[in-house]
Amino acid sequence: MNMAEKYSERRARLTDTMDGDYCIVIKASSSKPTSADGMYHYTPSRNLFYLSGIDQGNSTLIMWRLKGREAMECLYISPYDEAYAKWYGTVLTKEQAQESSGIEDIRFAGGEDKFLDKLVSRERLEKFYFDWHNCGMSGVPGKRLQYVNRFKMVYPGLAVQSISNRIFSLRMIKDEAEIETMKGAIELTRKGFEAAVKKLAPGMNEREFEAELLYEWAKEGEKQPAFSAIVAGGNRATCLHYVGNNADLSDGELLLIDHGAMKDLYCADISRTIPVNGRYTARQRELMEMVLEIQAKAMELLRPGKLHREWNDQVLEAYKEIMLRRGEIKEPEDITNFYYHGIGHHLGLDTHDENVSDIPIAPGMVFTIEPGFYSAEEGIGIRIEDDVLVGETENTVLSAGFPRTPDEIEVLMAGK
Ligand code: GLY
Ligand code: MN
Ligand code: MN
Repeated sequence: MNMAEKYSERRARLTDTMDGDYCIVIKASSSKPTSADGMYHYTPSRNLFYLSGIDQGNSTLIMWRLKGREAMECLYISPYDEAYAKWYGTVLTKEQAQESSGIEDIRFAGGEDKFLDKLVSRERLEKFYFDWHNCGMSGVPGKRLQYVNRFKMVYPGLAVQSISNRIFSLRMIKDEAEIETMKGAIELTRKGFEAAVKKLAPGMNEREFEAELLYEWAKEGEKQPAFSAIVAGGNRATCLHYVGNNADLSDGELLLIDHGAMKDLYCADISRTIPVNGRYTARQRELMEMVLEIQAKAMELLRPGKLHREWNDQVLEAYKEIMLRRGEIKEPEDITNFYYHGIGHHLGLDTHDENVSDIPIAPGMVFTIEPGFYSAEEGIGIRIEDDVLVGETENTVLSAGFPRTPDEIEVLMAGK
């Protein structure tokens, strides 16, 4: 099956879940301005990409069914514009969009609103579904939510709902092509990690290590990482989302690297904790072994049928027992002094991949397993994170080729 057929199949799976007549509108995301004429890097809409392979802005996918007739679909894209091409580059032709998405009916952007008006006023369609990102009460509504709000204002009597959760529920189960792409992202991450480790020595700055990762990924064709890498030496690693990456690394301290390359918009998310000088101290090794023990337990507990939050709770209980047995804590509740995040998350087109929390864990889902131990007092932050595909009877560690244990890391660092 080629990718266009794959996207068509995904759209069919989505529309098969719809009762009666409907119209689904999925718009591309838009760039955010940095200033009057500057823009942040464009981040394609993952839902639009998942259903069509289209990653360019100003695109709208519309799927509809009227009066019990067959399901229809069309895609609006930007028309070629000579001046735009001179400034920013060219856009897909109708034929290219057709070929990559599997959608026959490609139209030029600008006619979407009139088309929706027609569905309401001529066809008397009443059920509309849009895809938009929640911004929360404290956030600023993005362009997609503004569009939905405008639609609701113009047609206050219509039933307008979100389609996003239905798409997320499809995205939760990865198909073979997605798994292969994710393996590619993980392999790229490994290459960057090993290249950067070769350069590591006391005195190196965290930002130089990050630059080595990015350089390796760019050489292999991926300019954007899945997320901003966390490169945190010593006690900076006790801050979970430290992205300052701007301090010198010292002899004797640990370096926590939480990083992921992206491949064709699919993300890797791997954490490793390594000694800056190439050798773990006895204490560092002891703590590494503890985190590896709970990671193995979390892997065992990651099984189909339970909810994500149930898995998280079970891992927390298991970790309390391990820490008590190892004498790291005296009371179970003391764990929160050393471990203060969840055990993992869905991974895919987003690093924290979109999901529906009431859907139980099932084969085909990909999770990170990322236990940690953080002690500001000892100036140590350890996280070990791997990417795991859930199977019927057993799981597969997609990042198995990535050095992980103290012995494996020391061998890698000795051979640099
Ligand atoms: N890199 C963020 C996380 O591991 O969830
Ligand atoms: Mn991570
Ligand atoms: Mn993660």
